[in-house]
Amino acid sequence: MQHQKVLILDFGSQYTQLIARRVRELNIYCEIHPFNKIPKDLDSYEAVVLSGSPNSVRGEDVLHPDLNGIRGKKPLLGVCYGAQYLAHFSGGKVAESSTREYGRANLAYIKDGEDFLENIHEGSQVWMSHSDTIKELPDGAELLASTADVENAAYKINGEVTYAIQFHPEVYHTTDGHQLLHNFLIKIAGINQDWTPQSFVEETVDELKAKLGNDKVVLGLSGGVDSSVAAMLLHKAIGKNLYCIFVNNGLLRKNEFEDVLHQYEGMGLNVKGVDASSRFLGALAGKSDPEEKRKTIGRVFIEVFDDEAHQIQDVKWLAQGTIYPDVIESVSATGGPSATIKSHHNVGGLPDFMKLQVVEPLKTLFKDEVRRVGASMNMDSHLLGRHPFPGPGLAIRILGDITEDKVKILQEVDAVFINNLKSWNLYDKVWQAGAMLLPVNSVGVMGDERTYEKCVALRAVESTDGMTADWVNLPYEFLQKTSNEIINKVKGVNRVVYDISSKPPATIEWE
Ligand code: XMP
Repeated sequence: MQHQKVLILDFGSQYTQLIARRVRELNIYCEIHPFNKIPKDLDSYEAVVLSGSPNSVRGEDVLHPDLNGIRGKKPLLGVCYGAQYLAHFSGGKVAESSTREYGRANLAYIKDGEDFLENIHEGSQVWMSHSDTIKELPDGAELLASTADVENAAYKINGEVTYAIQFHPEVYHTTDGHQLLHNFLIKIAGINQDWTPQSFVEETVDELKAKLGNDKVVLGLSGGVDSSVAAMLLHKAIGKNLYCIFVNNGLLRKNEFEDVLHQYEGMGLNVKGVDASSRFLGALAGKSDPEEKRKTIGRVFIEVFDDEAHQIQDVKWLAQGTIYPDVIESVSATGGPSATIKSHHNVGGLPDFMKLQVVEPLKTLFKDEVRRVGASMNMDSHLLGRHPFPGPGLAIRILGDITEDKVKILQEVDAVFINNLKSWNLYDKVWQAGAMLLPVNSVGVMGDERTYEKCVALRAVESTDGMTADWVNLPYEFLQKTSNEIINKVKGVNRVVYDISSKPPATIEWE
């Protein structure tokens, strides 16, 4: 990729990924690296940003980056911890703050005539989140902005292109954060804004063509956004040499296998639908432990996928829909780099015995960027806007052991819920929704008959990445109508409850 790029050094802040997303919103490519694993090819970066951190520059847990190849040599921006670090170790002073400095503040002083502060005005809201504060600026520094409580809210170091801010430009509540990053990256560092979904598609397709030549590639489609967008990119690059496999594990939503397969075929993909429902359900029979169910599904998936892949002559590559958050190495609480641990993967582990090389066309993109790339290839907006769905599917929404009958009941319940969300225009306001079949029967009455039937729980959450989530306040009328419809339409269910737990402490799935 020939784009100019920005290096973000991570000191473990919860907001580091947000910095990257804001930079990319300016159509500038950037990468996150741990502060103690600075890339060797520093020349290929136009500017550097130091992130915030939960650690203190005064404490024993201070994190020391090696800035030798950076300071004075490249435009540098320190954010929060980054700003404190630049102050504390260059002749300034950082001390514990006497007032709490969390949340909203407003810029009360702004130095005139600074490119860094162009179009930012007094009164502009900024977001603070720190317990240490910069008491004295470092040698050669000049104050650029203050708030009522934080005098040294922004400064620059003369003689080098180094800027530092105590507040967080990357969070939504800093109203001019976007402008500030624009000023630093474009006005001061002079970086081109040429990284767009279209340019990503063009370059990735060229790269894939060069890398794969006439080789055959196999890819497991899941019906989700990532694998579908990865497939489209590969399809553009190598056409019929991409062999897609879409496995029905018998645990998909109602009619999903047929619908999604049909949609893939309409996109021109060379896709084989494999109905392995009975193989999965057979292997799951009698198993009720959640982890055992997951492992069984993962194992059978690999077996099925491997059988299918072996039928393709001379296949050399396995394509995966891995995205950037799966590969970013983040800084752990102890300051060491730690690979982000993803416990869930739609396409299980890579079957080693297949001996395939791996190609991952989306591994530099965030989820929202994957959607934008898909949209720029004119992919169907329904497909791009689909809620996440777990690889083990309904198996982890049927609590306890799994039978075909239970799957059918849950598919019907889920279909009523999801269709109603769509018809009430609520689907796109919810991050993920689904129904759980509980292992309890309860007493009910239908007509003059006493019933003793299943209870289902509905769950709808809002979230950005599934790591934390909150339940959605769906309208009572919607819940009322949906509950009625489920109980009237789905035989075997006489009670519906709505899950009002946040994550943490509850998880999104019930198993
Ligand atoms: P939890 O239940 O951990 O879910 O709060 C967070 C997100 O991960 C999905 N999930 C899975 N995805 N295999 C997957 O591919 C799994 O075993 C799995 N378990 C949970 C869940 O649907 C939610 O989006």
